[in-house]
Amino acid sequence: MRLKEILLLAIVSGAVAFFSEKAVGQSLREYADQKKILIGAAVEPSLFKEPAYVATLAREFNMIEAENALKWAAIRPDRGTFNFKPGDEVVAFAKQHKMKVRGHTLLWSEYNPAWLTKGKFTPSQLSDLLHEHITNVMKHYAGEVFAWDVVNEVFEADGDVEPSIWYDQPGIGLNGQGTVYVEKAFRWAREADPRALLFYNDYDTEGLNPKSDAVYAMVKDFKRRGVPIDGVGIQAHIFNLSTKDIADLEANIARLTALGLQVHITELDVGLPLDAKGQVANAVDLQRQAEIYRFIAAACLKQAGCTALQTWGFTDKYSWVPGFTKGAKGAALLFDKAYVAKPAYRALLSVLKGRKRSATSGTAPRSN
Ligand code: G3I
Repeated sequence: MRLKEILLLAIVSGAVAFFSEKAVGQSLREYADQKKILIGAAVEPSLFKEPAYVATLAREFNMIEAENALKWAAIRPDRGTFNFKPGDEVVAFAKQHKMKVRGHTLLWSEYNPAWLTKGKFTPSQLSDLLHEHITNVMKHYAGEVFAWDVVNEVFEADGDVEPSIWYDQPGIGLNGQGTVYVEKAFRWAREADPRALLFYNDYDTEGLNPKSDAVYAMVKDFKRRGVPIDGVGIQAHIFNLSTKDIADLEANIARLTALGLQVHITELDVGLPLDAKGQVANAVDLQRQAEIYRFIAAACLKQAGCTALQTWGFTDKYSWVPGFTKGAKGAALLFDKAYVAKPAYRALLSVLKGRKRSATSGTAPRSN
């Protein structure tokens, strides 16, 4: 075949591939809908004014979650104020684009406002403040936020309950009683919005380890005693470009769903080493990143009780990772800073496009 014919064939096949992908409208959302799984992204409502941000988000995802807008520091500028505006913008965007909304988070040791952390409140006052917060926020979003991270990140790596304003500094009056204060929050949450799904959310709990064992023991005890809980969020922030620490993800999901709980992968991103210019230091890392996205998505899709897969943002342009790692890592998401799909996106798309979901493992999750 002459060079001219080879070039012509390459151009035509490239165009076909491009338009067929656009023509078919292949998107994560299209295949996720077919697989009946939620595909989500954490969002910042102030970016809804950016056309590429909106177009990519609306095309690729069927669920969104406010990255920060529903946290205490954002929603409670002072003791008497509930600032629902940014969260309402997230809900409005979701309604416009027929998406579900996850809520994050009603109790966390971080990102709390100074009036709360420096207010020298007694345990009884903190208990009333937490009860009021959970009740008012969940009632405001009742029927709009289908699932909440009621409690976020209470365990240390060894499985102990971490010291915090809500546990023992000074806590809500349940100091030293382990996760009883977590149970209290879940009971208040169920009272506030009986229809919402209630999740416990944590990081470094992907594989089988002392921390994920502590999560499992807590939620197993909650289920045994009838404490209202519907699921566990596994954050999946991956920083070491390896599946070593997450090799048992499938087994971990299986033991949680066997309790009758749902599992959501809630904050998936895979940070890559950056060079001094903030670029991906080693191009081969993009393929390794893709394989980790594929591994995590496949582990979730294999279990019917794993009902949502969410990334923590979706474009490298607005990821928390470079700030958190002081520029050492980044490029953690599915789309680059110009909203061009990366190998990780194609890996995720191929998993969503692929095999039918397995039969239910564990009891069927509560419908949402
Ligand atoms: O909005 C203010 C801005 O007005 C101010 O000028 C600026 C500088 O101080 O701060 C801005 O707030 C920042 C906020 O993100 C919005 O960008 C906070 O300082 C910063 O602490 C906050 O970081 C967030 C962090 O949670 C703490 O809430 C990250 O964006 C967010 O990605 C991260 O997300 C957490 C999950 O909630 C829980 N799991 C871990 C995950 C990563 O830490």
